[in-house]
Amino acid sequence: MCGIVGYIGKAPAAPILLDGLKKLEYRGYDSAGVAVLHEGKLSVVRKKGRVKELEGCLEPTGSVGIGHTRWATHGEPSERNAHPHVYGKFAVVHNGILENYHALKRECEERGEEFLSETDSETVAHLLSFYYEGDALSALQKTTARLKGSYALAVLCTDHPDSLFLAREKSPLIAGVGEEGLYAASDVPALAGKCHLLYSLSDGELAELTRKSLRFFRGGEEIEKLPLCVETMGDIPEKGGYAHYMRKEMGEIGSAIANSLVDFASEERFFDFNRVLCQTEYIQIVACGTAYHSGIAAKYAIESLARIPVDVTVASEYRYCDPIIRAGTLVIAVSQSGETADTIAAARLAKERGATVAAVTNVPYSSLTEISDFVLETRAGREIGVAATKSFNAQLALLYSLAAELARTRGRGGNFQALRLIPALSERVLSEAEGIKNFALGIAGAKSAYFIGRGADYCAALEGSLKLKEISYLPSEGYPAGELKHGTLALIEKGTPVVAILTQSALAEKTMNSVSEVYARGGKVLLVTSLPEYTDRKEVEESILLPRCEEVFSPILSVIPLQMLAYYTALARGNDPDKPRNLAKSVTVE
Ligand code: AGP
Repeated sequence: MCGIVGYIGKAPAAPILLDGLKKLEYRGYDSAGVAVLHEGKLSVVRKKGRVKELEGCLEPTGSVGIGHTRWATHGEPSERNAHPHVYGKFAVVHNGILENYHALKRECEERGEEFLSETDSETVAHLLSFYYEGDALSALQKTTARLKGSYALAVLCTDHPDSLFLAREKSPLIAGVGEEGLYAASDVPALAGKCHLLYSLSDGELAELTRKSLRFFRGGEEIEKLPLCVETMGDIPEKGGYAHYMRKEMGEIGSAIANSLVDFASEERFFDFNRVLCQTEYIQIVACGTAYHSGIAAKYAIESLARIPVDVTVASEYRYCDPIIRAGTLVIAVSQSGETADTIAAARLAKERGATVAAVTNVPYSSLTEISDFVLETRAGREIGVAATKSFNAQLALLYSLAAELARTRGRGGNFQALRLIPALSERVLSEAEGIKNFALGIAGAKSAYFIGRGADYCAALEGSLKLKEISYLPSEGYPAGELKHGTLALIEKGTPVVAILTQSALAEKTMNSVSEVYARGGKVLLVTSLPEYTDRKEVEESILLPRCEEVFSPILSVIPLQMLAYYTALARGNDPDKPRNLAKSVTVE
């Protein structure tokens, strides 16, 4: 959340910063700002709203600067809370949360210093001024020593027109070297095409970028760092003729699945991991949001195919629930971005307690991969839409491969054959799923919506509901079908949309009982099913027929029409599905 950029070099800084911010806008888009240092003076422009609001307002001269695109944590989205924050000789952009900022702010105010924003970040500019005695790097060192929480910082000082300073603790920060100068950004794509060398700062590290050199420091000492080896993530992709990234990314589901299926048994790179799999007796999955739903789908698959117990916990709860790790425990942390603060903290805790930790992530150079014992890379390609789509299908492909491998090592067969059919089936579902548009138009004016399913279908219900609520802003719930009658049924009235997912033949009649209960109260039912015999039932207003696949793997297909439903409902309600309000793609704060 929040994107930061920095540049120092030969070229005018403003257009470079603006370009970088546009590429980082998926990290936050409620306000943006830029500071450029020229002839000893800071020129700062901040605007409420999206990065494009800065266009035409920036200082054209000056070849050193910093920029920020914000996702508000402390203080409403407004111009005065937008970054950069300036105090004395310093301008600062910050991504993260300073947990002790109340105490620090009080300390500054007791010295008579006036604060202009409600942010935690402004405190950093005040502390820098307080500790500054002519050496900005040393002031940054002393300042960061006082901070608790998470931060990626980029700092300018008017006394040092040829330097840009960086610091990182638990928030991602990359420095890069290019032909035109030196760069900094929260994420690699903002620097794509500009740099031939990229470095990821680790926690506790500082950097000074000058027009000619890039130096890293830890604990006051200069250190050597190796550049990143970034093969997979290029520039931010174009929309490729689609109106929105989300729809384009749904079109890539087939290849995301195909590229993320893994044959653990035959690939040499998994040799050590396979040994761990053979010794695994218990699995804990930690993740947030959509990735958490992948974990639930994986639980159904692993338990049913391999008979290994799996617990799935929301990462923000895991970190405070005093988890029990025994011998043979494998912890799988699932995160598209690999930067989700709660998931990283949960993985770190599991490691401290002796677990082997495997990261399932779409970003192989992320913070999560740094702390994990094994990295299982989903190959969905970069996902820009804030609502996760193809990355979810890719996570399922990888986790189902894992379930199949665990089953194989336990002598229970593998079901790889069934997995290999899924990419082609997903293409069929995608073309059918467009037919959901009508239902989407029909529910756009509803007060709320419900998603129900049993067994593996429950996971699809959860994900369908999350998708709908996050981009259409229609209140929605995903429920195990059998649980509806224990309370939520009270909310069903004439016309309430209910999406029932029905792919588990042994549970189909049971779920249809729930559908009948909904119908009896006037609910309007959309059935997403692979069982054609149910589509004509009187209780069903509309249906989408899925191709059959191994039933325990069915969420990888049944979620596709639900993603499409969310997309078209969001459009019908006039929302931008790529940038839902209040959300950001990468949640790097607790
Ligand atoms: C999904 O559509 C979300 N926007 C969100 O729930 C996301 O899945 C969650 O924040 C986890 O992100 P991660 O996979 O990058 O860790």
